[in-house]
Amino acid sequence: MRSGFVWLLAAIGLVLFSGAGVSSAADHKYVGVKKCKSCHKKELIGDQYGAWQDKQHSKAFETLKGEDAAKIAKEKGLSTPAHESPECLKCHVTAYGEPATAFAKEPAPRSESCSVSL
Ligand code: HEC
Ligand code: HEC
Repeated sequence: MRSGFVWLLAAIGLVLFSGAGVSSAADHKYVGVKKCKSCHKKELIGDQYGAWQDKQHSKAFETLKGEDAAKIAKEKGLSTPAHESPECLKCHVTAYGEPATAFAKEPAPRSESCSVSL
């Protein structure tokens, strides 16, 4: 159950109800993991933030800056480094390609971009 939680925590796109709680596609926002941390870091409830942070999933963007990623990018003949290539970013960051309006006012850096729906 715990691992299912962590997977979900890291994997699901974040949808926040804004304003008075009226939901529409235009209201949906992506926020950074710091939002989740405010509640999910407490030991008492299992420190899901800490568990996520210790896993590779939390480093999905950083992974694209490593040697393995550079090798894959070269094999695929990409013209830009992996961490700048849409072919890789579409899976390795949250909400890649989403319009700026889909993000919270202060979007988190890509290294913190995993988020979930509330
Ligand atoms: C204001 C506090 C708060 C914030 C902020 C918050 N959560 Fe939660 N979250 C909770 C509580 C409390 C529960 C447990 C709800 C329940 O058990 O019914 C929960 C449940 C969850 C669950 C479901 C767990 C399960 O086993 O079904 C996931 C996934 C989750 N949170 C992820 C996140 C992520 C990702 C973020 C940040 C984008 C986040 N939460 C932000 C308080 C918060
Ligand atoms: C369709 C989604 C998707 C795309 C596109 C994608 N990746 Fe990944 N990548 C993943 C997933 C999911 C994992 C984790 C797999 C696992 O751990 O079993 C991963 C893992 C990796 C890893 C290994 C990380 C590790 O430490 O184990 C590297 C390196 C990597 N990807 C590089 C790339 C590069 C470079 C590109 C672009 C050419 C790319 N990926 C495109 C989904 C994707």
